[in-house]
Amino acid sequence: MDTTSIWRATAPATGGAPLESDLTTDVVVIGGGITGVTLALLLARAGRSVVLLEADTVGSGSTGNSTGNLYETVSEGLAAIARRWGADIARRVIEQRRAAIGFIEAHCADADAGFRRCAHLLYALDEQQADQIGREFEVLANAGASVRRDQSVPAPLPKPVGEVVVLQNQAQFQPQAYVAHLARLAGEAGARIHQQSRVIELDAKGRRAVTASGAVLAQEIVLATHSPKGFHLVQAEMPVHREYGIARPLAGADPGPGIFWCRGSERLSVRTMAAGGQRYLVCVGEEHKVGTHNAKASLMALQMRVEQRFGPGAASHRWSAQNYRSADGLPYIGRDASGCFIATGFATDGLTWGTVAAHVIAEQLMARSHAFGDLCRPARFSPVKGGKAMVEENLTTVTALVRDYLTHSQAQQLASLAPGDSAHVDVDGETFAAYRSPEGELFAVSPVCTHLGCKVHWNSVETSWDCPCHGSRFRVDGTVIEGPAVTPLGRKHLNVG
Ligand code: FES
Repeated sequence: MDTTSIWRATAPATGGAPLESDLTTDVVVIGGGITGVTLALLLARAGRSVVLLEADTVGSGSTGNSTGNLYETVSEGLAAIARRWGADIARRVIEQRRAAIGFIEAHCADADAGFRRCAHLLYALDEQQADQIGREFEVLANAGASVRRDQSVPAPLPKPVGEVVVLQNQAQFQPQAYVAHLARLAGEAGARIHQQSRVIELDAKGRRAVTASGAVLAQEIVLATHSPKGFHLVQAEMPVHREYGIARPLAGADPGPGIFWCRGSERLSVRTMAAGGQRYLVCVGEEHKVGTHNAKASLMALQMRVEQRFGPGAASHRWSAQNYRSADGLPYIGRDASGCFIATGFATDGLTWGTVAAHVIAEQLMARSHAFGDLCRPARFSPVKGGKAMVEENLTTVTALVRDYLTHSQAQQLASLAPGDSAHVDVDGETFAAYRSPEGELFAVSPVCTHLGCKVHWNSVETSWDCPCHGSRFRVDGTVIEGPAVTPLGRKHLNVG
């Protein structure tokens, strides 16, 4: 299945040849999403020497697979932040995120990135959620957000239960076009951006990042890869989820510009966008923990929900993206115990948090303190602030570690694997994660994740092996797609038809 998002399908390609020699620089940024590219631009403009290494192409991770929505609040609700951290910090969250949206707007002035100001509408589809949305209004107003109450949402969106909270003067854009534009600006400012340059070895102490065709020696390393590469304490605290998106040509009523979030039994984010003279409906939802759900069923459930709400219509684009939640609602930004800078725990709010993180890290790299950065330091974790839900969710990870070594119930005979099928198979007393391509080619790799040893699970939508523990994902030949793993799954070459 083609899983290219509408953003990636309709944005211009970015330049940036693979790294082909050894380089020395002040800062090496690993990861070419919105965090890494914004940081490269800020550092280059400040006169720092910076090299950015992107494993695939700029924006190909979460940035180019997001919603393209920019908002001051957070997806789990500002009330949760206020409860854990107090009203003052809730206000600072709004201020930081507002400033980040302003930065994006300023950098869209000469870019064809579809930036538009619009309202963010939050509403419920059941009574229980309606109460929570009422509380959200109070917290947003206290935090200085420009917010009002309403009773309805534009057709053809589902009718709200209770009031609608309207957060005014938010924004949306084309995230892939934006990050491509920012990469061009960073290059013009002197940043060296290398695509198709996967880091296969990272020496945090020696400050060296190695790719297959060159290495970068730097004074500082920034891991702008969502979950940081390698082993980091924050990984123990961050559940990893995937969320699905579809776009389809808009027929009939057009709700117009706006970020429409409904909560309750249907947790759905809806917006529209235009590309190539066509208007599209973009819907994102069906969030699940990585590696523990049926990806195809999730995508079908999203499609059915959209059809129920907006009428029949085939999706033109389907995609999904990964997100990492912090234990206490705030992201982890700054230097951690590895000595590298990290930026993660953005939940589904990464376009704005990523921009905030780039500013925080840029200041810290220039030896200037940043008040919000102090709040987001990675070493702050407190189980009390993290709360019960986080502990319970992480038990799933522990279960995955234990259970997967005890059961072989999925094991099949390799010979019975049909084209397009995957399974954990036993070969000569060893278990492999096997996949037979539609053309009949057989791929067999170790099922043990190279990060910390959990067992990988099949993702039928994206044809990948996904790890439920910390979100590493691998292609069928074992190469790393994303997540904290650096080393590929070991491949076994089999003489089996
Ligand atoms: Fe950590 Fe797989 S991602 S064990």
